[in-house]
Amino acid sequence: MLEEIEQLQEEAVAAIQGAVDTVALEEFRIRFAGRRSRLRAIMSGIGDLSKQERPAVGQAAGKARKTIEACLDQRGRSLEEAARESSSIDVSVPGRRPMSGVLHPLTRVAQELVSILEGMGFTVADGPEVEDEYHNFDALNTPADHPSRDLHDTFYLKDGRLLRTHTSTMQIRVMESGPPPVRIISPGRTYRKDTVDATHHMVFHQIEGLCVDRGVSMADLKATLTAVGRCVMGENTRIRLRPHFFPFTEPSVEYDFSCGLCLGDSGLGDSGLGDSGLGSDPGGPLCRLCKGTGWIEIGGAGMVDPAVFEAVGYDPEIYTGFAFGLGFDRIAMIRHGIDDIRLFLENDLRFTRQF
Ligand code: FA5
Repeated sequence: MLEEIEQLQEEAVAAIQGAVDTVALEEFRIRFAGRRSRLRAIMSGIGDLSKQERPAVGQAAGKARKTIEACLDQRGRSLEEAARESSSIDVSVPGRRPMSGVLHPLTRVAQELVSILEGMGFTVADGPEVEDEYHNFDALNTPADHPSRDLHDTFYLKDGRLLRTHTSTMQIRVMESGPPPVRIISPGRTYRKDTVDATHHMVFHQIEGLCVDRGVSMADLKATLTAVGRCVMGENTRIRLRPHFFPFTEPSVEYDFSCGLCLGDSGLGDSGLGDSGLGSDPGGPLCRLCKGTGWIEIGGAGMVDPAVFEAVGYDPEIYTGFAFGLGFDRIAMIRHGIDDIRLFLENDLRFTRQF
């Protein structure tokens, strides 16, 4: 019996000292010192022992109980202390600087363009990115069989609606909502199923402008675009209008700004860009933005087609108007010397932190 008590004590002390947490310690307390433990059983059986055995066994069992209880106490204290230490706050550690955000370069350019155009008397109109075919195409004089729809392939929803391919939808929405005069701008996101490359994305950004009143002319359009170009790109910026076709304007133009990086030194020749992005001339050690053409295509514009006025119930005999769409991803690219449009939407903090 004495031997068993000694073994029990040794086993208990080893287990308790190795307890990894308070849960394990509580299990050992029940096992070695609890009411149903072997030690308790031995102690309550002492009365049944012979007179000779009783004192020695009683003494050994009492000593074992004290040792186990002392051991439980000690281990309990050291586990508590360890827990306190690991959760305590070291007030001398320097604080972590919270990450402060900056406006995305596209947001900044959009805000700047809005502020320039607001200064010229335009007000902002906001509208949906998920559109119906009528506002994206039909009301803009682009019926279902019109070939220019091919250039505006986009993403369709199951209910027939689509992601708008341009902000020109807002021309219709604004004119439907009230009579002339109108002078609005509408910045926003646009979508096309275009092949993505350094200057084209399937998600890009435009700002639409629409001015309708009596006596509005192409000269007003050119003056407005020139003023915008000079404010946003510098006062020496030149603007070039190239004849083009849009179903919803007549006459129609595409317009280019002179390159803000090489200041047009690369050429200013008639490159006939088309929507080739930031210039199209492939030859020579040329400006990386305009590729040597000296010009950067920014957008499309023109005088509102009478068919569009008819669709919204304006009298084309009384009113004339100009409209323009400006792709401002490209302005942001020129501004910051960014040579790949994809960077805007990759959400890579190494890129966005630079602005
Ligand atoms: C239009 O979107 C017409 N709605 C513009 C317009 C408005 C004409 C009002 C007449 C009156 P266009 O498809 O050319 O036109 O696009 C205008 C500009 O958007 C382009 O010059 C270019 O700067 C930008 N853009 C077009 N497609 C992309 C693309 N995939 N990625 C980046 N920018 C693009």
